[in-house]
Formats: sequence, C-alpha cells, structure tokens
Amino acid sequence: MSRESSVRSVPPVSKERLKSPRARLFVALDLPQELREGIVAWGHGALCDPALRVVAPESLHVTLAFLGYLPEREIVRLGEIVRGLGAAAPRLRLEDPVAKPSPRRARLFALPAIAPAAASLQRELERKLVAERLYKPEKRPFWPHVTVARVKSAGRGSRRPATVEKPPGALPKELLEPALCVRVTLYRSVLQPQGSRYTPLAQVELSRDGRQ
Ligand code: 2AM
Repeated sequence: MSRESSVRSVPPVSKERLKSPRARLFVALDLPQELREGIVAWGHGALCDPALRVVAPESLHVTLAFLGYLPEREIVRLGEIVRGLGAAAPRLRLEDPVAKPSPRRARLFALPAIAPAAASLQRELERKLVAERLYKPEKRPFWPHVTVARVKSAGRGSRRPATVEKPPGALPKELLEPALCVRVTLYRSVLQPQGSRYTPLAQVELSRDGRQ
C-alpha cells in the first residue's frame, strides 16, 4: 500500500471535535404568564397561515443579548452575570405585529415592545458581558420585540421565505396594557428542523420596586 492511501484510510478528526464543546446561548427577558397566555390565545386566530411556524408558548421572550456559540465552560460566569443584574423589573407595552425584514418578504412576525426600562437593563447586561469579554455588542440599536412566528421556506432547500397570504392582524386591547417583566434567563438554544428548543440555564428575579 502506498503511503498516501494508508493516510487516506485514517478517518479525519474534524476541527470542531478538537475544540472545547460549545453552546448557542442568549439572555432574555421572560414574559409574565398572563401575557404569554394572551399571545397564545390571539395566535390561535391570527397566526394560522400555513406558511407560518408559530413560536412555542414557552419560547416567547424579549432577547436582551444574543451571545452565539461560546465554550460551555463560560456558562458558569454567564450565570453569575445574569444573577447579579441589579436593574429594576421593566414595564413593557406590546404593539401590533410587524413583518421583518419587510411585509412583502416576511421572514418573521414580531410584536414590538415599548419598554424604556428594558433598554437600561439591556445596557447593564451588555456592559457586564463586554467587561468579561463574553459579548461583542450589536451594531444595530436594541430593538425590544417578541417574535411570534417564523416563515417557512418556499420549498425544500429554498432560501426564499414562503408567501404569507394571511398576515396576523392587530392585538386585542388587553394585550396592549403595560405588563411588568420580572425574570431574566440565560438560555441555551438547540437548533432543530421543527424550530429551536430553548433550555433555561440560569435565572434572576428583578426587583419590582423600581420607579419607571
Ligand atoms: P429573533 O426572535 O428576533 O429572531 C434565539 O435565537 C433568540 O436570539 C431569538 O429570540 C432571536 O431573535 C435572538 N437573536 C438575536 N440575534 C440573533 C442572531 N444573530 N442569530 C440568531 N438569533 C438571534
């Protein structure tokens, strides 16, 4: 056997396996149970277009920082940062759904959230993550929102989104009422064909007595 063929017969070790194990992570503001249930109930009528993949009730949240893939060993430090957040619980007011990036080529539908205090919570989190070199801030400004549905692809292997014939309509009045969000969670996201699955890794209850 030539040297070349004997080398080829050894299974290659992927670069990925030589690295430390990594986790896809993000930190989010959880929604109060009542608001979550209200969104789910509205979604039964509003998010019924077959082109839509509706976000699971337990996955409804406002992302504060998307960290991407980090070594699993950093989860301990990230948990400490999340548990050490000192900002007061923000009040959040949802708005009617919008299509992103545009109504004609929607890839997702989200409920924008008016939440000035969530911006200071996000700044505190960002500052602490950056100080620990765990995060590179986004160039675009923080846009608090709750993604409620993603658009399926136009066909097998296609990168184009399918056409949404029946986009979601307005929210009922009770969902437009401000709601206090008291919990911040560090999540691990596992990508799956039917949608990502989020596992909580660390949590903090924010103080409810902040003036906003
Ligand atoms: P989205 O809902 O607006 O898509 C987990 O993927 C969470 O992190 C989602 O809420 C997602 O926001 C958010 N996120 C922010 N930036 C992201 C990115 N570059 N890639 C994937 N998810 C991102």
